[in-house]
Amino acid sequence: MASQLRFDGRVVLVTGAGGGLGRAYALAFAERGASVVVNDLGGDFKGVGKGSQAADRVVEEIRRRGGKAVANYDSVEEGEKLVKAALDAFGRIDVVVNNAGILRDRSFARISDEDWDIIHRVHLRGSFQVTRAAWDHMKKQRYGRIIMTSSASGIYGNFGQANYSAAKLGTLGLANTLAIEGRKSNIHCNTIAPNAGSRMTQTVMPEDLVEALKPEYVAPLVLWLCHESCEENGSLFEVGAGWIGKLRWERSLGAIVRKRNQPMTPEAVKAHWEKICDFDNASKPQSIQDSTGSILEVLSKVDSEGGVAANHTSHAASAATAGFAGAVGYKLSSFSSTYTQLETIMYALGVGASVKDPKDLKFVYEGSSDFSCLPTFGVIIAQKSMMNGGLAEIPGLSINFAKVLHGEQYLELYKPLPTSGTLRCEAVVADVLDKGSGVVILMDVYSYSGKELICYNQFSIFLVGSGGFGGKRTSDKVKEAVALPNRPPDNVLTDTTSLNQAALYRLSGDWNPLHIDPNFANLAGFDKPILHGLCTFGFSARHVLRQFSDNDVSRFKAIKARFAKPVYPGQTLQTEMWKEGDRIHFQTKVQETGDVVISNAYVDLLPASATLAKTPSVGAELQSALVFEEIGRRLKDVGREVVKKVNAVFEWHITKGGAPAAKWTIDLKNGSGKVYQGPAKGSADTTIIISDEDFMEVVLGKLDPQKAFFSGRLKARGNIMLSQKLEMILKDYAKL
Ligand code: NAI
Repeated sequence: MASQLRFDGRVVLVTGAGGGLGRAYALAFAERGASVVVNDLGGDFKGVGKGSQAADRVVEEIRRRGGKAVANYDSVEEGEKLVKAALDAFGRIDVVVNNAGILRDRSFARISDEDWDIIHRVHLRGSFQVTRAAWDHMKKQRYGRIIMTSSASGIYGNFGQANYSAAKLGTLGLANTLAIEGRKSNIHCNTIAPNAGSRMTQTVMPEDLVEALKPEYVAPLVLWLCHESCEENGSLFEVGAGWIGKLRWERSLGAIVRKRNQPMTPEAVKAHWEKICDFDNASKPQSIQDSTGSILEVLSKVDSEGGVAANHTSHAASAATAGFAGAVGYKLSSFSSTYTQLETIMYALGVGASVKDPKDLKFVYEGSSDFSCLPTFGVIIAQKSMMNGGLAEIPGLSINFAKVLHGEQYLELYKPLPTSGTLRCEAVVADVLDKGSGVVILMDVYSYSGKELICYNQFSIFLVGSGGFGGKRTSDKVKEAVALPNRPPDNVLTDTTSLNQAALYRLSGDWNPLHIDPNFANLAGFDKPILHGLCTFGFSARHVLRQFSDNDVSRFKAIKARFAKPVYPGQTLQTEMWKEGDRIHFQTKVQETGDVVISNAYVDLLPASATLAKTPSVGAELQSALVFEEIGRRLKDVGREVVKKVNAVFEWHITKGGAPAAKWTIDLKNGSGKVYQGPAKGSADTTIIISDEDFMEVVLGKLDPQKAFFSGRLKARGNIMLSQKLEMILKDYAKL
């Protein structure tokens, strides 16, 4: 059974907790260990009068059951006082449940100003006042859970409740923004639209329904949403009678009713009405970026028919010109992402690495002795760090209707990328350039593994139509694309992309439907879904690596590319390359059309003699090295005997941080046995791949080699049966 969700040490403020739903919440929180502030003004359901009885009764009830609670009788309009009560009694505030409420039902024609205002003051302003009073405390402690109470009347409308509907849906809007602003500080805000029998509903519900719809059938959802282990944020739920459902927005695919250089008319709207209202293939926007992003591209497409062609990024956040200068130097929130060999391999497949070429095996098979991560994988997590809503965070860049294109990309590596690990990205607006027809935002993203800088990306993001604000046209920050040598290419490699190329590539994290959804692509003005520009980029980089460094990723220093035109999955990519010292200039064409799709690009390689340091944090500090040396020493005494028993050569590939770190050979076949660093001098019977840490666990007897094998932590090739003898070798000869 799942362990009980507890609230020990947490301080919970429930407004309007003197009866109905609020009382049920207060009792439930207290029962699970929370200290509860039971707030209630104590008036009637229309908001007339006040008193202490309601709150006192609930406090009494809680205490009788052994719980901790204090009463507060202030109106939620005085939010500070409620939060002060929590701080005075319990020293902190962790949870706010905005629940207090009244009704002033009138048909719209009969609503007085007073009826309108008091409903807004209690429901919407009250929720604002109480939450604001708690906000800074939650931010400081980097923890908070907030509930807003909306209503089906607000979501769907209800006769006689215009004032109430407006205020109740207002709390949802408030919650949506708090969810965004609080996310960084681990403050989550969710909204519920409950259905329960209470004094509020007894005037409109039949008596038996009031009885049946118990507040206790709502409270568990509130408790779960307010628990520290609940990651839900910014969501809306309907709840009642023991049922809970989540709501979201749906948006039809819609129709473009405007043509370039022609006025948009109501007749055109009428002509497209069916399509505009057709929910087939509807999307479900979840954020303002989703909401504006796709439509921006479409609208801009109309404006710039035949205009800028570039790589369409999924994240459309565009900007008003006013705050551009102020945006320079702005740092996005730090972003971390963990990846495993699965992502590494999926990316390699996404950019066309294939078992067809035996030399590619190292990119698609984790058991390869030199299993490696393609250098251009370095763009993936950096891109995620910006897509994570980051662009929209930049102050001064208010979002408006324009188009966002990925113009150019620069990537530089300082260490080969680990095949698995965690990268932390720090992104900063390096500069903003005014290109007349648009604006270029240079985003510099630094990716770290622990404290080590692994790679640096510069994304050039083009905002169509936002230029002409008198800003500078160039910047010394920009990593320039360079012209190609004026001669036929030295080498050309081609690869035919598969029809599924974009479908595969997007799994690496760029989920823009433009690359998979035919309707969406049509809407954006393309015949069919287009390939990701960064996918073509990955193909080209692979071609350069294969041609000039024999797929040795440690020689890959940097790459710069300009996205010129879209590619369709299924087309053949042709990378034309020119070698100039250690710089490989290249451009990529679609063979079928001759169109240049990546232009003015280059890869910088390191000379073969000066490869990048092998991996982060690798070297003499490998713990396994000591063990191998010790085994070597002990073999001197008992070697012959062991050789007779084992009769095999074991080659060890020790990894660190997901990347190859060292090779060792234990030769228990020849002479009196030998242990040395490096691959087996003859052939190995069994090759074992294991991380330095797991190797130590095995040696110390904490990890059973067979279990390690079956769980994938230890990989063995060759004569796998021989690895059963491992335990004997390691246990007998490496008791450190
Ligand atoms: P209720 O009337 O039993 O509880 C509301 C409590 O809030 C009362 O104890 C009242 O004294 C208190 N209150 C009113 N104004 C206050 C103020 N200014 N400051 C502090 N406390 C104040 O009603 P119920 O049904 O428990 O409603 C709780 C919340 O759920 C309300 O926000 C209501 O609008 C909402 N809701 C309830 C539904 C239901 O089916 N019961 C349906 C949709 C929404």
